[in-house]
Amino acid sequence: MTAQIIDGKAIAKQCRKALKGRVKEFTEQYGHAPGLGVILVGDDPASAVYVRNKEKACEKVGINSFHRDLPATATQEQVAAIIDEMNADDRVHGILLQLPLPKGLDEQAMLARIHPDKDADGFHPINAGYLAVGKEGYVPCTPKGVMTLIESTGQSIEGAHAVVIGRSNIVGKPQAQLLLGKNATVTVCHSRTRNLPEVVAQGDIVVAAVGRPEMVKGDWIKEGAIVIDVGINRRDDGTLCGDVDYDAAAERAGWITPVPGGVGPMTIAMLLENTLEGAIRKAESR
Ligand code: GUN
Repeated sequence: MTAQIIDGKAIAKQCRKALKGRVKEFTEQYGHAPGLGVILVGDDPASAVYVRNKEKACEKVGINSFHRDLPATATQEQVAAIIDEMNADDRVHGILLQLPLPKGLDEQAMLARIHPDKDADGFHPINAGYLAVGKEGYVPCTPKGVMTLIESTGQSIEGAHAVVIGRSNIVGKPQAQLLLGKNATVTVCHSRTRNLPEVVAQGDIVVAAVGRPEMVKGDWIKEGAIVIDVGINRRDDGTLCGDVDYDAAAERAGWITPVPGGVGPMTIAMLLENTLEGAIRKAESR
């Protein structure tokens, strides 16, 4: 079997187009645009690129972005003060604290400082809890985008065996919750999992989110599976690759996401959606 490519770039473009219309409607109805507060601490070049892309995407759909930069030497109190300012700012409906934070800053404490109603990334423990108990709240952007990509195949998630590789708070854990919420049978694998190839081979759906270049081998993949590759890694020669050995996996999978152009564009589209939904919830609660 040769896999069909899941074109995340095209699906994200459709999402952004639909969002642009919804943002316009919101802005006309309420007299102000949705706003995203973006906080970048330190000088990690990759984070700077991600943040710039998120802000550009906001602008394109009509969402205001409010950017604050802090040096790598910033104290916890300085980061907290900016979060507090954004929590209190009525123009800001979603707050994004770009991760990772420089060493020495307590990431969990800073994420918990963001008001749960403005938690566009869905990383606050209250929103993580809502996801776990099936209550509406903010859902982390990457796993939310992955669900849209899986759904784009038209295959049923209910009853399927979904294998999630990786257990981070940003992707693996919320991904497992979302799949469970759609009645998949979910296995979460990680660095201590025994017989990983045999476990992955049971997956009708495989989501790879480990951050290790091409570690998921093609012959691990079940014939016809849906393979979603969340990884973005650099090979030694500088070229980009995912967590899955794409060429070999595409020989067996039914559907597969490319890297780049798969999951990445969806993450940003879902951030815009979360920001708009936060603005709608706030406007409707008045
Ligand atoms: N760093 C890597 N991925 C993410 C993300 O989705 N959100 C934030 N805030 N930081 C990240």
